[in-house]
Amino acid sequence: MPAKVHSGSLIGIDGHPVEVEIDVFPGLPSVVVVGLPDSAVKESAARVKSAIVNSGYPFPSRRWTVNLAPAALKKEGSGFDLPIALGMLSALEFLPSDRLKDYVVVGELSLDGRVKAVRGALSIALMAKEMGFKGLILPDVNAAEAAVVEGVEVLGVSTLLTTTGFLMGRVQIEPARAPTRSQTTDGPYYPIDFKEIKGQEYAKRAVEVAAAGGHNVLMIGPPGSGKTMISQRIPSILPETVFQEAVETTKIYSAAGLLGRNGSLVTTRPFRSPHHTVSDAGLIGGGAIPRPGEVSLAHNGVLFLDELPEFRKNVLEVLRQPLEDGHVTISRAQMALTFPARFMLVAAMNPCPCGYRGDPKHRCGCPSLAIQRYWGKISGPLLDRIDIHVDVPSVAWRDLTASPDGEPSQVIRERVNRARTVQLERLGNSRLYCNAQMGSVLIKEHCKLGPDSVGVLERAVDRLGLSARAYHRVLKIARTIADLDHSAGIRSPHVAEAIQYRTLDRRVD
Ligand SMILES: Nc1ncnc2c1ncn2[C@@H]1O[C@H](COP(=O)(O)OP(=O)(O)OP(=O)(O)O)[C@@H](O)[C@H]1O
Ligand SMILES: [Mg+2]
Ligand SMILES: [Zn+2]
Repeated sequence: MPAKVHSGSLIGIDGHPVEVEIDVFPGLPSVVVVGLPDSAVKESAARVKSAIVNSGYPFPSRRWTVNLAPAALKKEGSGFDLPIALGMLSALEFLPSDRLKDYVVVGELSLDGRVKAVRGALSIALMAKEMGFKGLILPDVNAAEAAVVEGVEVLGVSTLLTTTGFLMGRVQIEPARAPTRSQTTDGPYYPIDFKEIKGQEYAKRAVEVAAAGGHNVLMIGPPGSGKTMISQRIPSILPETVFQEAVETTKIYSAAGLLGRNGSLVTTRPFRSPHHTVSDAGLIGGGAIPRPGEVSLAHNGVLFLDELPEFRKNVLEVLRQPLEDGHVTISRAQMALTFPARFMLVAAMNPCPCGYRGDPKHRCGCPSLAIQRYWGKISGPLLDRIDIHVDVPSVAWRDLTASPDGEPSQVIRERVNRARTVQLERLGNSRLYCNAQMGSVLIKEHCKLGPDSVGVLERAVDRLGLSARAYHRVLKIARTIADLDHSAGIRSPHVAEAIQYRTLDRRVD
């Protein structure tokens, strides 16, 4: 009878069950792997044989058939080594099959029998739990990450021999435990702080509003005005993640193989700042077997695009889908994969090619055609999807040195956290975590205006000719400003401030 081992494969960022079936016959020595394996899976046979022999087991000359089911599922990676090895040992009757059936097994083997890390352990653990397995046997370096999932035993193993010892009841393995909540939610330490930014109160306020509600923000100003400096400090004021957000982000990092040794839950919001030479595949995700790109690595965090017009136009265009939908779809001949990509876009640029348009101290000699071409690199639809536009004028050096330190990040972060808590309560269990994520139905429900604020907004719509999309953005930003102000209702000053952040709509005038 063929031996059977439960395993799993990562598709995108989700784990899918795979059954490894192994049959052995007398005959010329050979190993045939069937079930759409990619090259890594095929090479598995050679590694498994060495690992078995080097662990002290005999490997008799037989004809082996290894079937990975379901055949229709595209399988990748080297995580089937360990289940194949256990299946072979079970087929040779070195292992009892009764214990094996309770576990999902993943792990790569080295030739000497050590068990090496796999990608996507957290997603495989979620799958094992959902399918009602007792436990998951996986590389010990991935155990901390998988142990975040409750209700399934996570057993980290370091060698093939400890694994077989465990299955024969000779070796005890203590189930891995997730780091306790207090260990994982300690506020992260940032070496740079908002207090170093002098003046620029308007820009700092805009960035605080953006962080509080998860809104996108574009900073426009001359060289040296502090745009990069402000952006780099945004991580220090971002609100705490909730558990579900951390799980989502961790699944992506786990699938991308970026979680590092003994990596656990990613509770710090990611801050990704790809260089402007990034390809669209690098930004969106890609590869023969698609891996998450920068937009997904920034999920629940910040994607920072410095010097926005320097990015290739086609690269910026692909941002439209994730900005609108919160995910990206990558199509391949065999499948279409979807990765989450709900991030806060932070972008910076100069107002013109020389950088000094509108600056009182410098003359801008840029011809209007050059300015048009410069802005033309960023399409209207992209600008329309950016909630907050903020001018960052340069500050004279003398004023800078004379100014006192700014407000520390910790103080700003506390305000941001409070405003975010209000949003989480309001949004309930909608799986949405901040105002920026509300769709039109929720906007209607949660962004009702009083008679005075309706008037302010109506006049602005007439004056600025706001698009419907921009109108909704103003409402969401006003909601966030009211939340920062501990106000249940949206009042006229909140709306007025939100309108201020539509600089570019005004400029079009
Ligand atoms: N408000 C400020 N407070 C303190 N230092 C500042 C401020 N603005 C600028 N600086 C100083 O000027 C340097 C340059 O600022 P930054 O690189 O952020 O400018 P930028 O707006 O990104 O310019 P560019 O358009 O050329 O990229 C900073 O590293 C910092 O030392
Ligand atoms: Mg800069
Ligand atoms: Zn110029």
